[in-house]
Amino acid sequence: MDYAGRKKQLIVVVFLLFILSFSSCYYDNFDELYPAANTVSCDTVSVTTYSKHVFPILNLYCNSCHSTKSANGSIILDTFEGVRNTAISGKLLGSLKHTIGYKPMPLNTKLDDCYIHEIENWIQAGEPNN
Ligand code: HEC
Repeated sequence: MDYAGRKKQLIVVVFLLFILSFSSCYYDNFDELYPAANTVSCDTVSVTTYSKHVFPILNLYCNSCHSTKSANGSIILDTFEGVRNTAISGKLLGSLKHTIGYKPMPLNTKLDDCYIHEIENWIQAGEPNN
């Protein structure tokens, strides 16, 4: 390749890097940070169950940091007992709703209100293992 050819090639590469640097901006937006947000359906009309609603939400958004094996803040959310204890202590809703006095969870973001309602419904029903 001659000198002019190489120069053209270099310009193209620099241009592409320029474009890439724009597309990798940081979005402080829940759906962008957690693209799986839409994989757990949410409805607050039917009865909320632990197995079909509560567990899938916690598993998707919380258990990377709150599994039995790596329980940040000693909070375990991958077993029924762990979730129930956290709910009874008031910490589960406190953290989800970002109530003053509780650590806001998931870290630095907030779940969709619909998910929070589902979990609240389950707690109001007395945390059944259903
Ligand atoms: C990226 C990691 C991460 C994710 C994801 C995460 N947590 Fe946490 N969580 C932490 C850490 C770290 C702590 C301990 C904070 C501390 O003690 O300073 C904590 C603490 C907590 C606490 C104790 C709060 C308190 O005030 O004592 C609760 C409850 C909790 N998390 C619930 C959740 C729930 C529910 C989710 C999902 C909706 C979630 N967390 C997602 C890292 C995470």
